[in-house]
Amino acid sequence: MIVAFRRILLGPVAFLPPRGFVVVPVIPPHRLPDGTTARSALVGWAGSELRGYANVCRHQAIPLDLGDGAVMTPDGKHLLCHHHGAVFEPLEGRCILGPCLGMRLWTWSVQIDALGDATLIVGGETASEDV
Ligand code: FES
Repeated sequence: MIVAFRRILLGPVAFLPPRGFVVVPVIPPHRLPDGTTARSALVGWAGSELRGYANVCRHQAIPLDLGDGAVMTPDGKHLLCHHHGAVFEPLEGRCILGPCLGMRLWTWSVQIDALGDATLIVGGETASEDV
């Protein structure tokens, strides 16, 4: 079943780690505009901005992590695909090093309500403005 938009309640935003991104399951999987499938999302802080991305590398349509939720570079500053080493900057999800240089992760919005709960909006992906 393909759903255009879906809300995934993440819980209190204060429970998100202050640095880095976490992997959030997307069940059922979500079909992306390029025909690939996202089974999880990446949610985390890029400075003071909360960001959400499909956990689908732009080199090959597989998750950035190896099933262990590790998606950051050792210094914690960038997203890292552990398959072939693509490095993505966290604010716009653009690949700055590696085989998909210039391509962007599919972006989803994250909303914070008045009670401080964060919700990931799966769907309506920002068009990839690849270089
Ligand atoms: S699949 Fe991510 S760099 Fe190759």
